[in-house]
Parts: sequence; C-alpha cells; structure tokens
Amino acid sequence: MDFDLFNTQSAAPSPAKALDMFPQLRDFSASLGNTPLVEVPGPQNGGRIFAKLESKNPSGSIKDRVAFGLFCDAINAHDFNQGPLKLLDSSGGNMAKALAHLGHLCGLPVHVVIPDSAPEVLLQSLSDSNAIVTKVDSSHFLLGIIARSQQIARTEPGWTLLSQHLNLVNTSVHQHHTGAEISRQLDGRRPDAWIAAIGTGGTLAGVYAALAQQNQDLRVVGCTPRELPFGTMEPPNGTARFAGAGGFGFGFRQPFVSLIPYEVPFQTVSHEESLKAMFRFFEETGIPIGGSAAANWIVAGNVASELDKEASVVTIFPDAGSDADRERGRQLLDNERQTTRS
Ligand SMILES: Cc1ncc(COP(=O)(O)O)c(C=O)c1O
Repeated sequence: MDFDLFNTQSAAPSPAKALDMFPQLRDFSASLGNTPLVEVPGPQNGGRIFAKLESKNPSGSIKDRVAFGLFCDAINAHDFNQGPLKLLDSSGGNMAKALAHLGHLCGLPVHVVIPDSAPEVLLQSLSDSNAIVTKVDSSHFLLGIIARSQQIARTEPGWTLLSQHLNLVNTSVHQHHTGAEISRQLDGRRPDAWIAAIGTGGTLAGVYAALAQQNQDLRVVGCTPRELPFGTMEPPNGTARFAGAGGFGFGFRQPFVSLIPYEVPFQTVSHEESLKAMFRFFEETGIPIGGSAAANWIVAGNVASELDKEASVVTIFPDAGSDADRERGRQLLDNERQTTRS
C-alpha cells in the first residue's frame, strides 16, 4: 500500500479547461464554496466560536470542494486523444457522492470504493449517478478502501486514481479556498485556535496553512471518533461512530496531518455524544449539522472554555447530517434528561 504524498500544488487547480470542455459544470462551480462563517453558541466565560457551514455546497458537503479540485486537476492532466478520462477513488461517503455527481454531469465514468456499511441513501445517490461501486468490509475502514482502490488502479488499466488521502490537491483546495475564505470572513479578527475532524486530514492541514499566516501561534486541535481514534495502535473496526472521520488503525496516521509543523493534539468524541450534540445544536440554532460538525462543535467548546472572551476559535461543519441521526440524538437526550429528573 502506498502512503507517499504526491502532486505538489502552488495553488488550487484551475477550473478553466474543465469549464470549457463541460459547460454544464458552470452552475456547480458557481455555487461551490464561499459558504457562510457564522458565530455559534459557546461557553459563557470563554472564547467565541466561528463555524463554516459546508452543507451550503452544491451536493451538500465540504467534499464538493475536494472532488471539484481533483476533478479539474485530472482533466488538466489528461490527454483526451489517448482515451476517455475514468475516475476512481476511495471514500467514506461524501467524496463518493460529490465525485459521482460530477462524473454524471459530464458523462465521465466514476468508480468509488466505499465501506459496506454505507447508508442506503448514499447507495441510491451513487446509483442515480451511474457510479460503479465496490464495497469493502467496513471493519477494515479507511485502510481497507484505500488498499482496494490502489489494487484496482494497478490491475485495471485506464482508471485515474485520484487518491484523496495522498493527492496534495486536497490540501491546496482547503488552503487556497476554504482557508482563504475563512481568513477574509474573520474580517481582521485573529484566529486563536483551529479545530477540525480528521478524515483525510486535508481540511485540518490545508486550512491550518492559511490561518497560520494570520497567527503563527495558532493552536490546532484535531477531532476524532472515540471508537477509532486518529493514530490508534488498535486494528481498524466497524463500530458505529460519527461519519467522515476516524483513524487508520495499526498506528498508521493520515499523512496530511504531518504537514503541520508540530505534533497535533486531538480530542475524541463518542458516537453517542455526537448524536446528542447534533440535536442540541439544532434545538439551539435551527441549523442542521452532521455528526462530525457536532463533534467539532464539542471540541471547539472545550478549547474555547480555556481561552478568554477576546479569543476566536474557528471550526468547520462539514455537512448537515440526517434527520434520522438528529432524531436518535433527541431520544438519547430525552432519556438522559428523564434519568436526571427521576
Ligand atoms: C462529514 C465529514 N466530516 C469530516 C470529514 C473530514 O474531512 P477531511 O477528509 O478533510 O479530513 C469528511 C470527509 O469526508 C466528511 O465527509
């Protein structure tokens, strides 16, 4: 299995060739990014928390940005005289959905390798986009899907493996778009801390590179599921946890995280805590957020409570999650509130 980072970028890939070849991408491109940065509830006596709402992207998650960047880069690099461009990658879910949507828009074949625990709604969306789907035992999680996608690329010629975990287009998109947007939206306010869940680590490392330009002492804290933490020495497992993040297992670490020039501390959030926070956040603000967003909100609150009132903690809400998960969160909270009362 390959763990080397590749495809160094000095900027996010230009979309010019892709938009020229496939004008049907223009609506997608126009509604991509520039998502709102909003102040969200935080501790009473602590720093303020600002969160970027990535559910506002065209197919509903932060992965629209990375999928579009990888898509444009692959189009820029491909010689269409040699044959059609066929795109392959591994994904926990949101990237598969975004990539399949782009492929469908442009009539390009897309093959995604996903865990076999993928929810029915994702499978339906991939099927609607005519994507080829390979499922891997979810107890092998990220190592399983990455290894399988690399094996397909080796044994079935003609597929371009995008490698969202290793391709530096991922971090460049987050540095030059997500992070640059946050810097502008902070409007002169200095970021003191940056919190993000680690899936590929692309968001954490890319946005760090942008925000560190405003504060060299920027504190970075990763957020990871308690059931399968970042860097764990345990083997991977299929235990339910908040979506979009998790460790590789066996002590392997997402290579993008090593781009941050010091050892990044991280905090763990359990599946149950993330579900309850999904509902609690919705109850307090009316804004639907997903499990990784809820986990980021919890960790941002912990960090903010250690800072003074002037401090700014920045985090990201990668998607809106599902109503079913919010409902589970409501039930868990109701049970908890009833137990406390009796
Ligand atoms: C819902 C959700 N949260 C968090 C992440 C983690 O983002 P990254 O891969 O940039 O670490 C992802 C990535 O797929 C995601 O889908």
